[in-house]
Amino acid sequence: MVLEIKNLTVYAKERQILYDVSLSLERSQLIVLMGPNGSGKSTLAQTLLGSPFYKIIRGEVLLDGESIVNLKTHERVRKGLFLVFQNPVEIQGVSVLNLVKAAHSSITSEQTSIFEFKNKLSSLLSFLDLEESFLYKNVNVEMSGGEKKKSEMLQLLAIKPKYAILDEPDSGLDVDSLKLVAKAITNLLNSNVGVLLITHYTRIINELPSPSKVYVMLNGKIVTSGGVEVAKEVDRGGYEWIGKN
Ligand SMILES: Nc1ncnc2c1ncn2[C@@H]1O[C@H](COP(=O)(O)OP(=O)(O)OP(=O)(O)O)[C@@H](O)[C@H]1O
Ligand SMILES: [Mg+2]
Repeated sequence: MVLEIKNLTVYAKERQILYDVSLSLERSQLIVLMGPNGSGKSTLAQTLLGSPFYKIIRGEVLLDGESIVNLKTHERVRKGLFLVFQNPVEIQGVSVLNLVKAAHSSITSEQTSIFEFKNKLSSLLSFLDLEESFLYKNVNVEMSGGEKKKSEMLQLLAIKPKYAILDEPDSGLDVDSLKLVAKAITNLLNSNVGVLLITHYTRIINELPSPSKVYVMLNGKIVTSGGVEVAKEVDRGGYEWIGKN
């Protein structure tokens, strides 16, 4: 069971953003993607989910052996992909509870009453140190940056996809919230979810099981990969040392 990205070459409008990007993610595996601002990490994440802003010129994305590049976003989600956005959007008029329930029943085809579903979510709420009233907030409306990240993690834990792409789930989090998000990611890994974690910092990696691989993207290309020592090197010396190799 593997999500395989093969030679992905992607344009946004008329401009090439990604060059021949290849990486693979197995279930239960943690893979980390680092890279400077504007290097193409979110573009990769959005392309995997089928955002209409990005055009694949060449390459393949195979989910458990099946090509998904021609599928619509909701079809990819149903196949087991999930993206935690770097900048989650506000959805007026839709509560967190309704969103999570709709996503859950669309993916699992399980029909549960809202009452049963709320009970199911209560342990996840306490896991994330959230009050029950959080479920009745409009999605990402009047939420702090950290609360938005927790709201995304709540969806992720409720849905338990096959493969999760987390685009900077650690940005703007205080120390305690960072630990909670790391705990949630560990829980996913232990539940057979493959995690592609996009981050700038080792502080979250230090809270997680050791990643199988750390990839570095520069100017839309994967320029190096290795073990956790690659992330530590980035933390110590930024990205300049990579160009010098
Ligand atoms: N929809 C778009 N249309 C045109 N250009 C885009 C679009 N999305 C991204 N880009 C450009 O692609 C490049 C890569 O952007 P991307 O958001 O993927 O970077 P990133 O690695 O996620 O950066 P950060 O660490 O700041 O989040 C940037 O130069 C950006 O301006
Ligand atoms: Mg980004």
